[in-house]
Amino acid sequence: MGFPEGFLWGGAIAANQAEGAWNEDGKGWSVEDVATYKPKVDVKDYKANVAVSLAGIRSAMEDEDPTYYAKRRGIDFYHHYKEDLALFAEMGFKVLRISIAWTRLFPTGEEDKPNEKGIAFYEGVFREMKRLGIEPLVTLSHYEMPLELALKYNGWADRRMIDLFVRFCRVCFERFGKYVKLWLNFNEIDSLIRHSFTTAGIIPELCGERGELACCYQAAHHQFVAGAMVTRMMRKMMPDAKMGLMLTKLTTYPNTCAPEDVAATQKKNLENMFYADVQVFGEYPRMILADLKKRGLMPVMEQGDLELIRENTVDYVSFSYYNSTTESVDPNAERAPGNTILGVKNPYLPSSEWGWQIDPVGLRISLVELYDRYRKPLFVVENGLGMRDEVEEDGSIHDPYRIDYFRAHLKEMEKAIDEGVELMGYTSWAPIDLISANTNQMSKRYGFIYVDQDDLGNGTLARYKKDSFYWYKKVIASNGADM
Ligand code: BG6
Repeated sequence: MGFPEGFLWGGAIAANQAEGAWNEDGKGWSVEDVATYKPKVDVKDYKANVAVSLAGIRSAMEDEDPTYYAKRRGIDFYHHYKEDLALFAEMGFKVLRISIAWTRLFPTGEEDKPNEKGIAFYEGVFREMKRLGIEPLVTLSHYEMPLELALKYNGWADRRMIDLFVRFCRVCFERFGKYVKLWLNFNEIDSLIRHSFTTAGIIPELCGERGELACCYQAAHHQFVAGAMVTRMMRKMMPDAKMGLMLTKLTTYPNTCAPEDVAATQKKNLENMFYADVQVFGEYPRMILADLKKRGLMPVMEQGDLELIRENTVDYVSFSYYNSTTESVDPNAERAPGNTILGVKNPYLPSSEWGWQIDPVGLRISLVELYDRYRKPLFVVENGLGMRDEVEEDGSIHDPYRIDYFRAHLKEMEKAIDEGVELMGYTSWAPIDLISANTNQMSKRYGFIYVDQDDLGNGTLARYKKDSFYWYKKVIASNGADM
């Protein structure tokens, strides 16, 4: 069978990691503008890398030296987008996933009217994509929100965020709806409990007696409600558009076949899927509710919330997949990091330099599991390998490791399609090098396109094609037949 006709091949980037121009044309402070690259912190310790405090935020806002605030400069997609889109088009992209920075449209999140210069930037991007025949897939919230709302309300822990977000989305639909038919609400919504500031603007010190975790589940509830409102609004304004959810697929295997390990693994997986369950089935899973009650973490819900969630479920299920992990009840089991997790090491899998365990078969397992559970079209919206790359004297970059990674994952994806999984498309993370979400490094490179910039912002920002660029181009041209 192979890949279906019209399969959406492409790549995915996010505003906060690519755009730069953090304070240009009226853009306000975003939570990611205070994220710091910490050269002395272990890159495998994601918690230390994403930790925030009020004092840290304030000192970042006052710091006159921009060197360590890598996301403020991104890869300057803001000024390079025509060049970058042309390179994506050269690879034959059918789709490009981007996100919209809330702070470009509403600098503090509370203005009555949007910032027209911010709108003009995205209109320019969408017009160019249209000209090049690349379909946009747009994430409304990808690790980005006005910093002002984090400081004032403790982010999504406060219910007032719902209306502010809906207002932002209304403007996106009104102004970009003619270009965009595929939407995603919250990037990796489940990551809220792993890095609450990035995903939801929560500052642990502001959580008071309730504690950070309770704030996180409250924030998740607010995002579910906001997501449902936005889906309802989208259907009224653009009946032909589609809304998807976005999950970090943390595929977890039992480390042994001891029933205790299997039970612990099952719990982990249920916790991960919960965020998709609510948005697909339109209700909280009973087991999650029981668990939240037991732990005193039940979010406050208002009348009408559950009905709204039930009536406005998503059209498709998208997810990121980088690595799998395992679970064990043995407290001494050897640990291995993955994408914002610290799981138990799988002895059968190799690891990247950042410690993430590479598991292509896990992608097939994830696809089959998600399709079997939800029976909704799936979309792989992130998958890729972060590595250091070397530029040769002649400007070429040989990255066979990246080609091997993608080939192995695409082959498993093809097998899943053969097994009957309905897959809309695949967007690699990321088609061009950009700033790492977790570590704020530039040297953790994912792209088919190399960007000349180092961790401290030195470099010409020139773009170079890696070997993988030509490989992916062939894959797309042959609709996956030539890998
Ligand atoms: C996903 C995020 O979790 O992982 C991306 O949606 C992120 O924003 C990607 O970049 C890879 O993580 P990192 O930390 O290597 O950039």
